[in-house]
Amino acid sequence: MLSTKSFLLAALAAVASAAPGCKPPKATPTLPLTGGASELPAAPSNLVLKKIILGHGIQNYSCAADPTATPVAKGALAALYDITPLYPNGKPQSLSIDGFNALTSTVLWTQDLPLNLGNPAAAVAGAVLSSTQYGATTSPFKAPKDLTIPNLAPLKYAGRHYFDSTGTPNFDLTGPGNLKAHVVKKDGVAVPAGADKGPLNTGAVQWLLLGDSDLGISNGVKLVYRVVTAGGVAESCSTTGEGLSSVPYTAQYWFYG
Ligand SMILES: *[C@@H]1O[C@H](CO)[C@@H](O)[C@H](O)[C@H]1NC(C)=O
Repeated sequence: MLSTKSFLLAALAAVASAAPGCKPPKATPTLPLTGGASELPAAPSNLVLKKIILGHGIQNYSCAADPTATPVAKGALAALYDITPLYPNGKPQSLSIDGFNALTSTVLWTQDLPLNLGNPAAAVAGAVLSSTQYGATTSPFKAPKDLTIPNLAPLKYAGRHYFDSTGTPNFDLTGPGNLKAHVVKKDGVAVPAGADKGPLNTGAVQWLLLGDSDLGISNGVKLVYRVVTAGGVAESCSTTGEGLSSVPYTAQYWFYG
């Protein structure tokens, strides 16, 4: 009979799919579920999963002078990293599903915001500054750089997420295929109970289904899902007062085309 310790060690070895000679069958990645009352619709079967991307950045909001006003979403900025190779599939660098889904929290709390902010103190990992202390900047994106996190394969830099002058979300991906998504919101659902509320303790932004704007701007992408979000919900207008605010967030973005 196995002792408790050797049983636990055996269980751990089974979780670490990197263990040689114990490759689980190749899994087709399946979109995470919220486990709540509503789920996002599945991608149509004629589309294929192109990439799973981690976004790390800020969600912007604006408040009117009235402290009872609801913050209005003013877009987002994020650097993107390719986490497709880390999905559990038996490859040496792949993680367990729990490890994979913990990446958004790990990055949010341990990695500095990969943006140039007017107030550099706000970019420090896990900074608990008021959402109004981020400071405007005219060129927010830093030079492309992979993320190196202890005990993980490097997360390869994969592009940028931003809102254009028409208020439309864009994802510009680097690498083969030059994937680009110019999308509109199709659906949104409440996050799972226990979702990571982020450093400002405001909550995790909704999970979304984004569809092609059909303006001929996207390239190789028809649908983008935003799932496994951490942080990003606005502070109340009574907290921020009138004007712009920003809240750090991370998310998994699943690109189908
Ligand atoms: C978002 O907010 C940041 C700082 O709070 C600012 O530098 C940036 O220009 C804003 N971006 C947009 C698209 O509003």
